[in-house]
Amino acid sequence: MIYSTKLFRHALVLSFFVLIGICVSAQKAAEIAIDTKASKHNISRHIYGHFSEHLGRCIYDGFWVADTMKVPRQGRIRLDVVEALKKINVPNLRWPGGCFADEYHWRDGIGKPKERPKMINTHWGGVTEDNSFGTHEFLELISLLKCEAYIAGNVGSGTVEEMAKWVEYVNFNGVSPMAALRKENGREEPWRVTYWGIGNENWGCGGNMTAEYYAGEYKRYATYARNYPGTPLRKVAGGANSRDYNWTEVCMKNIRANQMWGLSLHHYTIPTGNWSKKGSATKFDEKEYFQTMKNCLFMDELVAKHAAIMDKYDSAKRVALVVDEWGIWTDVEPGTNPGFLYQQNSLRDALIAGTTLNIFNNHSDRVRMANLAQTVNVLQAIILTEGRKMLLTPTYHIFDMYKVHQDAKYLPFTISTPDYTLENQNLPAVNVSASQDSTGTIHLSFVNIDPNKNIPVTISMDAVNWKTVTGQVLTSAKLTDINSFDKMNTIQIAKFSAAKKEGNKLVVDLPSKSVVVIELK
Ligand code: AHR
Repeated sequence: MIYSTKLFRHALVLSFFVLIGICVSAQKAAEIAIDTKASKHNISRHIYGHFSEHLGRCIYDGFWVADTMKVPRQGRIRLDVVEALKKINVPNLRWPGGCFADEYHWRDGIGKPKERPKMINTHWGGVTEDNSFGTHEFLELISLLKCEAYIAGNVGSGTVEEMAKWVEYVNFNGVSPMAALRKENGREEPWRVTYWGIGNENWGCGGNMTAEYYAGEYKRYATYARNYPGTPLRKVAGGANSRDYNWTEVCMKNIRANQMWGLSLHHYTIPTGNWSKKGSATKFDEKEYFQTMKNCLFMDELVAKHAAIMDKYDSAKRVALVVDEWGIWTDVEPGTNPGFLYQQNSLRDALIAGTTLNIFNNHSDRVRMANLAQTVNVLQAIILTEGRKMLLTPTYHIFDMYKVHQDAKYLPFTISTPDYTLENQNLPAVNVSASQDSTGTIHLSFVNIDPNKNIPVTISMDAVNWKTVTGQVLTSAKLTDINSFDKMNTIQIAKFSAAKKEGNKLVVDLPSKSVVVIELK
């Protein structure tokens, strides 16, 4: 009797451990090892840049509103939008396009607003552009944001002289026709803008050029875009459309590394992968979500391949890879102008932003600037407005959480992660990046793209003595959740407490479909 009770107890204990074993194996862990001593460079803050085109309601009815609108304004610039952008330390703003840039003639946008000529915005809805927002207004916005301007010049339909004079107008401090004109228009001091794009998408809307033809044009335009005293330019050559590796090869071969500061790359995440039916911003199933995340993760391979080509011609990594248009591009919201590219923004988009910014951080030896498309009311917007109302999208919160990486020392790592599996297809469930700021504080940003499983993560770190751990998390009940004008805070940053120190290791329980930023001091 005694024997059989003992046997029963043993059997019970054994089955308990088997059960635990099953649970543990169902919840596979990710392991990360950070090599703090191997750090060689910083993550440029300019990776966290934004993009504002004369498109739909981004400039007009976004930043720039009627002078009768009852919102805090400086002139016609909306100050609630400015304050929200300042909070995330926006480092630079790209303007005036996009495709619009190669149709924009800057002299139409200076002088008395009433006398400025109107034009048709042929790319974006065929609406009338009244040029009330021009160089002075943009640079006023830049000074309110306390960030750097990144101006895209017109190669497609402009002239070398037109771009040269724009640079002179904006940057020259001496006696010259363009400096005099600027002063006549009320601005004494030059603005000293260093970042200049030499055209945009010149393989497409920027002139339908071949790579060879563009490389020649680049050199002509770039030669006459002068460095005026105190303002050396950082010129960015118009780069490849997504996987057009030949474009990068030809530009790197034909334009010397000392003739350009950067070479751009544009890549959008299209949920279905089909440009004519991209998929809804708010109504999608798990299958479409999986496909979207697969398309988003492709950015890693894309950047690595373009960077490898650049390495062949520029082993010193002088030329920056500038991903100056990225983000999710869905079908427009039903009932809105198809030419205005207005889309809502869900938790899925926050996971895309977190993942893509991790990819850029992890390639920050070459990627030194990037611009999400676009800031307000267009594509993967971080801010949406409706009349006087303004809301912050889930993507905005990612930029808020990740701002700690700006200009911090990049920390290399190795990772082993379980897969997120759907219908026999696998994606890495966890992605991460890490940095150490000037005070010695370490930040880790994790994304768990698996919508169904929490994932335990163990992080080991050499040579760093940290004592406290705190964190922030962004998640929600459903991937399709959004912030709407009726419910503006469905998705917001919350305190994260499922991270603890175990011996020398950090152990984090990453919630499903979440972005977590951990701070170690
Ligand atoms: O961001 C919208 C458009 O996408 C830009 O104008 C263009 O450069 C790209 O094709």
